[in-house]
Amino acid sequence: MAAHIPVMLQECLDLLAPQPGEVMLDATLGGGGHARALCEVVGESGRVIGLDKDPDAIDVAARGLAPHYPQLHVVHADFGEMAEVVAELSPGGVDGVLMDLGVSSMQIDPGSGRGFSFQGDEPLDMRMDPTRGESAAELLGRVDARELADILWRYGDERHSRRVARAVLDAHAEEPLRTTAQLADVVRDVVPPSRDGLDPATRTFMALRIRVNRELDALAEGLDAAVEVLRHGGRLVVLAYHSGEDRIVKHLIAGEVRGCTCPPEIPVCMCGRTPTLTPLTKKPLRPSEAETRSNPRARSCRLRAAQRIRQEDGHGDP
Ligand SMILES: C[S@@+](CC[C@H](N)C(=O)[O-])C[C@H]1O[C@@H](n2cnc3c(N)ncnc32)[C@H](O)[C@@H]1O
Repeated sequence: MAAHIPVMLQECLDLLAPQPGEVMLDATLGGGGHARALCEVVGESGRVIGLDKDPDAIDVAARGLAPHYPQLHVVHADFGEMAEVVAELSPGGVDGVLMDLGVSSMQIDPGSGRGFSFQGDEPLDMRMDPTRGESAAELLGRVDARELADILWRYGDERHSRRVARAVLDAHAEEPLRTTAQLADVVRDVVPPSRDGLDPATRTFMALRIRVNRELDALAEGLDAAVEVLRHGGRLVVLAYHSGEDRIVKHLIAGEVRGCTCPPEIPVCMCGRTPTLTPLTKKPLRPSEAETRSNPRARSCRLRAAQRIRQEDGHGDP
């Protein structure tokens, strides 16, 4: 199984600025690379709460990491449930939240059997949390061509979305598609090879994965929850891997930095909302060339960070 090399680790540590004794929340534990580094810095007087919706990631962290770091608390939860978890484990809030989005190497590793990879032949599942929700195969059995084309276009930027949707549903009607190889073959038959050498099935797989896991809705819920659980002065760092994710992160941070949601034509604020965040990154940070060379998964990463405004900064307190 490929080890997960934590992406932009030094940048995450610089911006999260964990201190000994602080409470950090890693909302996306995965292979535990970032969490391990956080545990090292906060030490045994601090605490790292590690969440993941994937029970396998929780299992690996509970067996591999937790025995070495008593400060690590591993919780199987969606990051949309962050506020409930923090209320229980650290009622005073947390000093930092890290969200490293998307899938881990453990999940996409060919042979993981999770259905994310089209390199091998695996059951068409794609759920990060197989204990809840509907699998990709179940989704294909339920949607019509219009809805599927919309999913492929919206979440995968698939230019041939209608053609792919029709072909996939025709094939599925003939004999239900049950494996990743079956789906990839149908897509490859109707999508022309791209000049950049990307496998023609890439966009379809990404779109279905995002839809099956409700990734963009979950992200918006998770970001709201992160703002809620951060103590004053606490730091938020988010690593996004595609434009749909990054757009949501950018807008949410901008909205929290602005505070007021009144339309610009209204002369005085009616909503009463005040800023909760101050940006720590003007533009998204990108990985260095050296990192991209040694870890190709980092290539598309965009890091944005913000800090929870302190009470003494004079803003009203949500
Ligand atoms: C890119 S990996 C994180 C890798 C990790 N930072 C490391 O260093 O090994 C993303 C992880 O986030 C988890 N994840 C994605 N969406 C989630 C959500 N809504 N709630 C909780 N975990 C989620 C995935 O299951 C996956 O394990």
